[in-house]
Amino acid sequence: MNQSEVPVVPMPTILIVDDSPSYLTALLDRLERHGFLIVLAQTAAEGLMRAEFAEPDLILLDVVMPDIDGFETCRRLKAGKRTKDVPVIFMTGLTDPKQKVTGFDAGGVDYITKPFQIEEVLARVNTHLALRRATRELQDMVATLDRAREDLVRNEKLAGLGALVAGIAHELNTPIGNSLMASTTFEMQTDDIHHHMTGEGGVTRKEFEKYIENARLSVDILSRNLHRAADIVTNFKQVAVDQTSSQRRSFLLEEVIAANLLTLQPTIKRTPFVIERRVPPDLMMDSYPGPLGQVVTNLINNAILHGYEGRCEGLIAVTAQLSAQGWVTLSVEDHGVGIPRADLQRIFDPFFTTKLGVGGSGLGLHIVHNIVTEILGGRIDVSSEVGGGTRITLTLPMSAPLR
Ligand SMILES: Nc1ncnc2c1ncn2[C@@H]1O[C@H](COP(=O)(O)OP(=O)(O)O)[C@@H](O)[C@H]1O
Ligand SMILES: [Mg+2]
Repeated sequence: MNQSEVPVVPMPTILIVDDSPSYLTALLDRLERHGFLIVLAQTAAEGLMRAEFAEPDLILLDVVMPDIDGFETCRRLKAGKRTKDVPVIFMTGLTDPKQKVTGFDAGGVDYITKPFQIEEVLARVNTHLALRRATRELQDMVATLDRAREDLVRNEKLAGLGALVAGIAHELNTPIGNSLMASTTFEMQTDDIHHHMTGEGGVTRKEFEKYIENARLSVDILSRNLHRAADIVTNFKQVAVDQTSSQRRSFLLEEVIAANLLTLQPTIKRTPFVIERRVPPDLMMDSYPGPLGQVVTNLINNAILHGYEGRCEGLIAVTAQLSAQGWVTLSVEDHGVGIPRADLQRIFDPFFTTKLGVGGSGLGLHIVHNIVTEILGGRIDVSSEVGGGTRITLTLPMSAPLR
């Protein structure tokens, strides 16, 4: 390892604020010998300034000073953006317990009584530096975890988009398969009649009429199935655009719910469950259909995954109605296992899942909650009974708040 690679461990910086030069020099001398970088200030005003620029790791602060007293100085340090987290230890000759309380109220973390023993000063300084370091490490860890949580939320959204793509592929299978079959049959019949026409006996009128009739049938099948495919693509396109752009627009609630239920078809077809949709056909909203669709999809998936796990039948009701003037209630209800009372408070927490390692991430309802409250400007309520089922109700403004 050459010189430049030696890791640099910064010496902790301590700011000492005291109006008595004898205390200052005594502390400076002793603390420097223990490997601290010392910054001195003889007045509170000077101390406040140095605290701002020297970024100390700890401050030793005299209480009785001629300009501003130590308690007030401490309050100002705690109000400063750059200085608020620096631990402050008061140094005082006053031993009145009331004074101590005032000091802690002002934001101090400890006291050293003058005249002091240097060992005591060192012990307290080291304790609070270690505490500060530990706090910083914890803060870093929380920030890292927060980033990890954001990554997971993004992954969950990507998984939703993946399901959408799988959905469109699945849905298009049937109409495209049918079209292919019709066109192949048509081709064979055309080859056949062409063969007859150019052959010896030619084609009888009856044979030709039969060919026309078959052609009509094939074209009819083709046309119906291609229209169906086009509808599916349009539907999915809207859901995909809504989901990826999160744009606000006016829409008929029924249409958006229907399109989202369609994208869920591949999932539902594999289950014995039935979805019942009761949405007034004329209910217009001016809101965010993509996030709203994501919410409905998540709630239905939960009903299947949690509510009806292991069951061989079950009804999931998606119901909407006008509630108060300008508000819509939208609920997703199952009659499955229900949620235990103790869990009810926690289901919206990130990572709360009863299916850890078996398909649950615990992020679904967390995302749902965020979307409902932060994007759609609404409220979400849950009522559930063990053995009786679960109903999640959204109360949404027909016109979402502008962002
Ligand atoms: N319809 C439901 N029926 C029963 N339990 C549910 C239902 N919806 C949600 N839960 C409970 O709430 C928990 C959290 O749900 P969610 O945030 O979507 O996470 P995940 O689905 O990944 O477990 C689930 O693990 C489950 O215990
Ligand atoms: Mg879920």
